[in-house]
Amino acid sequence: MSGKFITFEGPEGSGKSSLVQRVFDHFTARGMRVMMTREPGGIRISEKIRDILLDNALTEMDPRTEALLFAAARRQHLSEKIIPALQAGTMILCDRFIDSSLAYQGVGRGLGIDEVYAINRFAIGEFLPDLTVFVNVRPEVGLARLFANHRTKIDRLDLETQDFHRRLYDGYLELLKRYPDRIHSINGERPLDEVARDAIALIERHL
Ligand code: TYD
Repeated sequence: MSGKFITFEGPEGSGKSSLVQRVFDHFTARGMRVMMTREPGGIRISEKIRDILLDNALTEMDPRTEALLFAAARRQHLSEKIIPALQAGTMILCDRFIDSSLAYQGVGRGLGIDEVYAINRFAIGEFLPDLTVFVNVRPEVGLARLFANHRTKIDRLDLETQDFHRRLYDGYLELLKRYPDRIHSINGERPLDEVARDAIALIERHL
């Protein structure tokens, strides 16, 4: 496959989505073929699964159901959108991917990184991003930003306890150790311009 698959990860309030937009604008302006997408979602079926996953009313959802739904949404996203775009030589910028499941469901929910990886292997095989940008914002800083920004819609996972957010952040730190060649951490506790400059430099080194 000739395109590059680049994913962005981070805790709540890390500013990831604005960052992905900046990076997209930069590479588009350079004349590259770039596509922006997100998880859970990205396409029709996965956006419907997203609605279930993020619905604040569905407080009874079992952690394994949650993990399986994220993996199901990912499978459809991969086969319908990501693989064809990569084959066409497009660079893909994806807001969250498998590492979100490993951190949120594996560590946050306590299902185990290896267990969550196993169901994801059923969904997406050995496929992994070429590069993952981890926007490193401590959970207390991220949550403060999230609740200060009144435009953001607070979803089912945002409403989890502080402990949950602390655990999933530790989960990301564990993933950084497991995948040192693939996942790169950038300091997200700075103005967006600076974070974007670092992310673009990191991606350019990997192209
Ligand atoms: P979203 O509004 O896209 O949040 P953010 O701006 O933080 O990316 O909501 C996605 C939520 O789903 C977010 O809380 C992270 C969570 N999530 C998982 O728990 N597991 C996953 O595999 C993915 C992709 C997301």
